[in-house]
Amino acid sequence: MRVSEDMVDSFVSEPWSDFIEGSVYPDNAAPWRHDPAYATILEHSGLRDSIGSQVASALRQAIGLVQAMAQVNVLDVVCSHRPAIGLSLGFGSNAQEPYELLKTCELDCVHAYEWIGEHIIEAARAFETLRVNEPRLMARIRLHHGTVSDLSALDTSSIHLIYTANMFNCEIPMSEDTFGRSLQEIVRVLAPRGCLISRGSAGVLEQSLARSIRVLLENPLVSVLQKEPVPPGSE
Ligand SMILES: C[S@@+](CC[C@H](N)C(=O)[O-])C[C@H]1O[C@@H](n2cnc3c(N)ncnc32)[C@H](O)[C@@H]1O
Repeated sequence: MRVSEDMVDSFVSEPWSDFIEGSVYPDNAAPWRHDPAYATILEHSGLRDSIGSQVASALRQAIGLVQAMAQVNVLDVVCSHRPAIGLSLGFGSNAQEPYELLKTCELDCVHAYEWIGEHIIEAARAFETLRVNEPRLMARIRLHHGTVSDLSALDTSSIHLIYTANMFNCEIPMSEDTFGRSLQEIVRVLAPRGCLISRGSAGVLEQSLARSIRVLLENPLVSVLQKEPVPPGSE
């Protein structure tokens, strides 16, 4: 589905649009439309297919591995903050991604970014159907139609757990500029002691982040990194 200007105008009257924070842009008027990767991903829907299924079991496995190998209980660390806030980056056609992050990690709220408007709309519609049984869901999942290189809707140090899957890899094109800005934004929004779980990356994300964030687990399937705590007396 291509998102046009007429469609965007009609969304405001739809109840599901309340899951979306900020604007939904028509495909050809998105602020990031000049990013070369955007045009490629928009044109080839296969580049945003859901390949990271079974999010809940992947999260549990990553958390278990970190507990066993680094003696860090990611859930305890994340949930020692209330409200505990998560961030899902590039969920594509897998709307389960932010939902399972919320549920599996017992978070209070998850912000979810995706730059293809079609997937923002699909996800908002899916969550609207779940709202029948979960009336508070709208306050707990906030969708953002945006590029991960600009997370300015989120405050610095406000996120306790980030999940990203199959976005920072060679098959999904990303310009150097977008990659660099995305790293800066991830480091900025992550709270001290906050963690990032990354699946299906080519390793460049982890190598680059390792300069500023501690690696707790690194293997070809999943990596977990943790931002250092603020040294005492410097807060
Ligand atoms: C292969 S899909 C992965 C989808 C899902 N995470 C999974 O594992 O099934 C990659 C997703 O990242 C999104 N993406 C790539 N670059 C992005 C950017 N700069 N900002 C926001 N989303 C981006 C694409 O639109 C696509 O939906």
